Amino acid sequence: MSRKATVVAPSNIALIKYWGTSDLERTLPFNPSLSMTLRECVTRTTVEPISDQKDEVLVGATGGGLEPASPAFSAGVEAHLEHLRSWAGVTERFRVATQNSFPMGAGMASSASGFAALALAIAAALEREISAETASVLARESGSGSAARSVMGGYVEWPSAATEGVAAQVLPADHWDLRDVIAILDTTEKRVSSRAGHKLAETSPYFKPRLQQLPERLAEVRSSLQSRDFARLAPVVEEEAIDLHLIAMSSRPPIFYWRPGTLIVLEVVRAMRESGVEVCATMDAGANVHLICTPEAETAVVEALEVLPEVEGVIRDGVGSGPREIDEPLF
Ligand code: DP6
Repeated sequence: MSRKATVVAPSNIALIKYWGTSDLERTLPFNPSLSMTLRECVTRTTVEPISDQKDEVLVGATGGGLEPASPAFSAGVEAHLEHLRSWAGVTERFRVATQNSFPMGAGMASSASGFAALALAIAAALEREISAETASVLARESGSGSAARSVMGGYVEWPSAATEGVAAQVLPADHWDLRDVIAILDTTEKRVSSRAGHKLAETSPYFKPRLQQLPERLAEVRSSLQSRDFARLAPVVEEEAIDLHLIAMSSRPPIFYWRPGTLIVLEVVRAMRESGVEVCATMDAGANVHLICTPEAETAVVEALEVLPEVEGVIRDGVGSGPREIDEPLF
């Protein structure tokens, strides 16, 4: 028995980063990461079983409606569908349509939300009741480790201390309403994929020292989230983001994700914090800067970004409660 199903799954922003894969085949990281699930940057995915011999993959078109996905995008979706079929023990083919709430080409990673939405939509279509833990494994097995964290709401650790490769919610979304104001600085496709970056991480002479520091940093982030202590959270979040880029820039060959605007935004964040605004910065494998702040600081943060010529756009996001099945299919 299978049916049409639509799932909305969120993106997430890591406060402690996943960078470096100990087992590439199984997508297992060297270190646990901890992220905040977002609520506005989401992927909506509809799947429906079809009688064809081949899956069909559609994406939201810029002007509205759906269009066939590029061969590279289709190949990624089909590979994950193949994996999900073998997990479920079925041979059905699917029509898959997927649409992001944030503009494609805004330099925003969509694989975490995309693969989480695909895994959950297929489980729903096949009427498999799965736990969030199982969903995290299925999402991770797409090859996008950060997708493991997108199946849960609030603040999520992956892998959890308890189980290999499985994510766990550390705190629910309503524990602390943190915001993420995203400064879009580079709308081009990133030059080096996260996957390539993970493979190179170990070539950096700073990778081992990073791994030694991480347990303490992770504990500090967990504890300052727990006590809603922004003054403690902010420096460790920034230190961690810089550390990820330090590893990338010192890998052999080096990877530079920053743009000049990245440094300008980091300066603005520092100045704002010195003047008492509760804001700190973090970056994934790209030039864009995520400004994590309290609700009281959000307006000032947005206004500070909007006057910068380097900033091409601003997305206002915040902590969210995770994926959900909805009754609004894309086709
Ligand atoms: C820098 O391999 O999960 O964002 O390409 O988005 O699937 P995708 O990346 P993935 O690596 C994520 C790397 C990171 C840090 C993080 O999110 O933990």
